[in-house]
Amino acid sequence: MNFKFNISFSVFLACLCLLTIPCFSQMVDKEKNIDEKVKKFLESSKYSWRDMNVPETDGKILYDLIIKNKYKKALEVGTSTGHSAIWIAWALSKTGGKLITIEIDEGRHNQAVKNFEEAGLGEFIDAKLADAHKFVPELKGPFDFIFIDADKDWYTSYAKSLVPKLEVGGCLTAHNVSERRGRGGYNMTGNFLDYMRSLPYMETSIVRESSAGISVSYKKQDK
Ligand SMILES: C[S@@+](CC[C@H](N)C(=O)[O-])C[C@H]1O[C@@H](n2cnc3c(N)ncnc32)[C@H](O)[C@@H]1O
Repeated sequence: MNFKFNISFSVFLACLCLLTIPCFSQMVDKEKNIDEKVKKFLESSKYSWRDMNVPETDGKILYDLIIKNKYKKALEVGTSTGHSAIWIAWALSKTGGKLITIEIDEGRHNQAVKNFEEAGLGEFIDAKLADAHKFVPELKGPFDFIFIDADKDWYTSYAKSLVPKLEVGGCLTAHNVSERRGRGGYNMTGNFLDYMRSLPYMETSIVRESSAGISVSYKKQDK
């Protein structure tokens, strides 16, 4: 009886291995192919980002945040030609996620779509040509990762609309955010940082490694 059971169990395990090993090795091959394609694209385009794109350091910061927290449902406001989106989508290709990114300028949107295909990341990105002022409030969510990098004077409005669509544990990040204030308390992103810090259920900090300034606000609990 025991012997019979052992044989059947061994046969079952052998079949399971035969079925799962090819699937697993296909997944590993796919990830390797994507890595190679993205690295090649990023290397060849290293010195050609001219459309207010984030620097490489900031792209890596976004990538690490997604990998560390295993985020899957990402949104970017302000695609431009797609540098930050490529870093975000590269991370999502590993977590099994997808990015929606919004750009108002048709030329930049078209170039971004080309770049996504060339980098091998097209299937992980839904690139929208739209005015985020109208499009963002219409988005249903939920999201677990948000990156705001469009018109600076609209950051607080984007945040007001997006924070309720952020999952607990998720984070809202924003570019060019600084603690520094100019004459008369002026700050490029208006009262965005003050607004984020006024929300008791959000925990906001500025990433030191970014010279341009990236704020990261984690949602600790629902409102
Ligand atoms: C700083 S760039 C984004 C750079 C991009 N994140 C990158 O790293 O490659 C800001 C972009 O936001 C876009 N933008 C500005 N206002 C917008 C709006 N209302 N809706 C959508 N996009 C907008 C601009 O056209 C510009 O391409």
